[in-house]
Amino acid sequence: MTGLMRRLTRRIAAEGPISVAEYMAECLLSPRDGYYTAGGEPFGAEGDFVTAPEISQMFGEMIGLWCVDAWQRVLGAPAAFTLVELGPGRGTLMADALRAARVVPGFTRAATLHLVEASPALRARQAEALRGHAPAWHDSLDTVPEGPLLLVANEFFDALPIRQFVRGDRGIHERRIALDESGEGLRFVVDARPSPLSPHLATRLADAPPGTMVEVSPAAESLVAAIAQRIARHGGAALVVDYGAATPGTGDTLQAVLRHKSVAVLDHPGAADLTAHVDFAALAEAARNAGIAAHGPVTQAALLTGLGIATRAERLAAAADAAQRRAITSALDRLLGEAEMGTLFKALALSPQGAAAPAGFAGNME
Ligand SMILES: C[S@@+](CC[C@H](N)C(=O)[O-])C[C@H]1O[C@@H](n2cnc3c(N)ncnc32)[C@H](O)[C@@H]1O
Repeated sequence: MTGLMRRLTRRIAAEGPISVAEYMAECLLSPRDGYYTAGGEPFGAEGDFVTAPEISQMFGEMIGLWCVDAWQRVLGAPAAFTLVELGPGRGTLMADALRAARVVPGFTRAATLHLVEASPALRARQAEALRGHAPAWHDSLDTVPEGPLLLVANEFFDALPIRQFVRGDRGIHERRIALDESGEGLRFVVDARPSPLSPHLATRLADAPPGTMVEVSPAAESLVAAIAQRIARHGGAALVVDYGAATPGTGDTLQAVLRHKSVAVLDHPGAADLTAHVDFAALAEAARNAGIAAHGPVTQAALLTGLGIATRAERLAAAADAAQRRAITSALDRLLGEAEMGTLFKALALSPQGAAAPAGFAGNME
């Protein structure tokens, strides 16, 4: 039994079942043995997953162009602004973005780089990748200085804890994690009593049969509200790219991945990556409730195509050998293909009420 499994079973034995959000927070962020906080390198063939910026430099470059355009048209090219990335991984996205952003020299001169990162191992990788850009690191957005803001987050929100609820015959009940029969392992249970949040969730489950599950992420919604309040106060724009549905849905999307394989959610606490689909409609609503505009979501394919990824691929291919051209074509397919990341991944943009729509989102204003 791992140290984290021992601590979880002791805690549940003493306090009773814990919520899915508490389980996710322990597994991902526990200082001693959380997946991100105490883990090493989760990326690549040796790790657990591969993300878009690690597939091709074109992804980060397109995000860089999005940032330059937003700085000019949405923020009005301020002489100083805060450039924030949430969960920068190996720093690849931001390094590629800042290289592409050099097309407009005033952008990098005006930017001060702030990275929100929980993993000490990944902070070290980011320091290498972003040497020369003098980043400052933060445990959360709370300590990032206030001011005009440009914020990007790729595959960050899917790692934020969710709570799960199940429709019963006469109410909506929270799904929790309890001890199994042996007392040494974990199992899912459903609270006998209806959740106090039942009225809040009732419309989403109105026509659903008993047993239907719904997920909410208070952590994701309050983070978007905090970003939106900053944008409302000082101006700015944010781009969130992640996987999930455009409209609120039902069902269990919590998943655990270990070495590129899907594994049981409760079997490898702290060792497997845990994620859930992002509820883009809930994030957009949190932004609008804070008084700013939400654009999209659009698919990742639509965003990258709108930002000109095909032209960039042609330019790269023109200077490439045959093997490199094959790699560019394969990367395009992975980033844009319907069976790959193109449709499942979505992008949501936030900007002040009445500001120009950010690049890639024209006509998608909600
Ligand atoms: C799936 S990785 C994505 C990395 C990168 N954005 C990319 O696309 O390659 C998630 C990133 O978010 C960080 N992270 C996850 N949860 C976090 C949290 N609650 N606070 C700060 N960083 C977190 C991880 O350490 C990692 O850098």
